[in-house]
Amino acid sequence: MTRNIPAESIEQVRLASDIVDVVSGYLTLQKRGRNYFGLCPFHQEKTPSFSVNPEMQIFHCFGCGAGGNVFTFIMKMEGVTFPEAVKLLAQAAGIVLPEDSEDIDQYREKEALFYVNKLANEFFLHNLQKAKEAQEARDYLQNRGILSQMYAQFDLGYALNRWDGLLNHAKTKSIKPEILLKAGLVIQKEASRYYDRFRGRITFSIRNLSNQIIGFGARRLADDDSPKYINTPETEIYQKRFILYGLHTARESIRRENKIIIVEGYTDFISLNNAGIKNVIATSGTALTEEHARLMRRYTSNAIVMYDSDSAGAAAAMRGADILLENGFEIKICTLPNGQDPDEFVRTHSEVQVKEILEAAAPLIDHKLQVLQKDDLLQTVNQRTSATRELLASIAKIGDQIQRAYLVRDLAKKLHIEESALWNELEKQSKKTRFTPKTDAAPRDSTISANKFFQSKKGAAELALLEMAVLDPDLIPRILQNVHHDDFSHPEIRRFFQLVDSSEFDPLSFSPENYIATIQDASIASHLSDSFSEKSFASFSWKYASDCIISLQLVQIDEEIERIREEIRQQNKQSKNTSSLVHQFQQLLEQKKLVSKGEFIIS
Ligand code: CTP
Ligand code: MN
Repeated sequence: MTRNIPAESIEQVRLASDIVDVVSGYLTLQKRGRNYFGLCPFHQEKTPSFSVNPEMQIFHCFGCGAGGNVFTFIMKMEGVTFPEAVKLLAQAAGIVLPEDSEDIDQYREKEALFYVNKLANEFFLHNLQKAKEAQEARDYLQNRGILSQMYAQFDLGYALNRWDGLLNHAKTKSIKPEILLKAGLVIQKEASRYYDRFRGRITFSIRNLSNQIIGFGARRLADDDSPKYINTPETEIYQKRFILYGLHTARESIRRENKIIIVEGYTDFISLNNAGIKNVIATSGTALTEEHARLMRRYTSNAIVMYDSDSAGAAAAMRGADILLENGFEIKICTLPNGQDPDEFVRTHSEVQVKEILEAAAPLIDHKLQVLQKDDLLQTVNQRTSATRELLASIAKIGDQIQRAYLVRDLAKKLHIEESALWNELEKQSKKTRFTPKTDAAPRDSTISANKFFQSKKGAAELALLEMAVLDPDLIPRILQNVHHDDFSHPEIRRFFQLVDSSEFDPLSFSPENYIATIQDASIASHLSDSFSEKSFASFSWKYASDCIISLQLVQIDEEIERIREEIRQQNKQSKNTSSLVHQFQQLLEQKKLVSKGEFIIS
């Protein structure tokens, strides 16, 4: 990255990057009270002393003292600079940062793509609610238990049965068809002849984790021979391997329940949500990817796969399960009765029955055994051998050695085979299995104590003033009466006092957590979040603050004294008259006495 990232982009990334989400991508967090705890990635420990505070959006390790905001966490974790950390988080959140001149165009284009998707979403929703021709769609949805008050909640819409419904609507907003084409909303027939991709269909809007609309799935109304769904193709902003339908709304409850339910279809997602089950996402017909798995892993490591009970659904479930296994999930498979999909099941059963079937989901290996048994594939020695191999192939994907050991023991019992035989085979298979490498955490030493500046008298005083100002913002106006913001020599501390140096500054509405989240200096962010974790808000005596101000004034005077002394030395060398300099020198010494008594403090 060659230029500074604009402040509003940093802000956008910050808002889109929940620190609990981000940290969960690296370690497993558990909620205790208002905070989350886990094993600190920055030092060796056996009991979790690494805490994440979701309200303040900061982390702090009580063991090693590491701390900071979401940016400094990534800096430390990935060993990168601030702009690189912003970039990484932006990528994860699907936010495009403007970069060099070429990228600025790309940035604008992506912004335009988000804009036209938003526009289409509003247009489709409006059609579904109001358009006369959408009556059929409204009836259809009602038949499926989706009432009009749910349209907006579930981002549903209706695409008019016309070649130019959206095209014309966009035209009234002066949007060119080229950008609709790039967004996948229209199709180009010949040069400069476009038509709507979605026509006469119910639309399901797809959002990214920043809650922006990035594409649509559109379902036919009648059971004709057209494709059941037509979807936005891959675009600059809709990269299917990164997107899970519904994750932006489900993530909170996934974390709370510490479990994710994975379904295939939009309608499955909606029905489960209507039944009060919110920790659901849909893969929407695309095969589960490594990226999907890692994304989910941010929130939980427990997955229930609830795919359609037809054979295609079962096969897809097994492929998905393998990827989840490789990414450290404990997987259960929820089997639905005869040919149903989750949507049908939910609509034909009570909420209690839905909960029961989820409870009854079988661990992956058990499920596989059950299927083999049901299909009579455990009869002959040959069958049992290949079944065993197949099951071990799944176990070989598990990174957790203890979980493996349990599963092997379990399997040995169920298959009436020696455990050691299974281990031998497993050993062979493990060699073939690829493990995803863990990020090699190379923490950069960024503690305050390692920073020479903060050990100087000036640095220590500036830092202490910053700390007091942040924890006790009432002090800010008084500090600024005594020190001009430009007199702070540390750039971050100067930036802070510049920020709050205004007659309109209101200590009551000052939000320390917001400020801490914008700090680019890792050591300061760490230091402040440390003191925040310990003290939260504190009240400092003015005495302490004024002592620090005196220190700064003294440093300034000492510098001045040093400068005059040097000048006198130079003048003496050239045998020039130094009497006026000497006079200044004496005055400064007088002044120094007064300064150290606090005579120059306005309180
Ligand atoms: N899908 C698709 N294209 C198709 C069929 C399916 O993109 N031709 C995707 C859709 O995202 C769909 C998911 O795969 O939601 C699951 O397919 P299916 O079970 O057939 O659809 P449902 O969502 O169950 O839809 P419905 O209940 O209306 O049949
Ligand atoms: Mn289905």
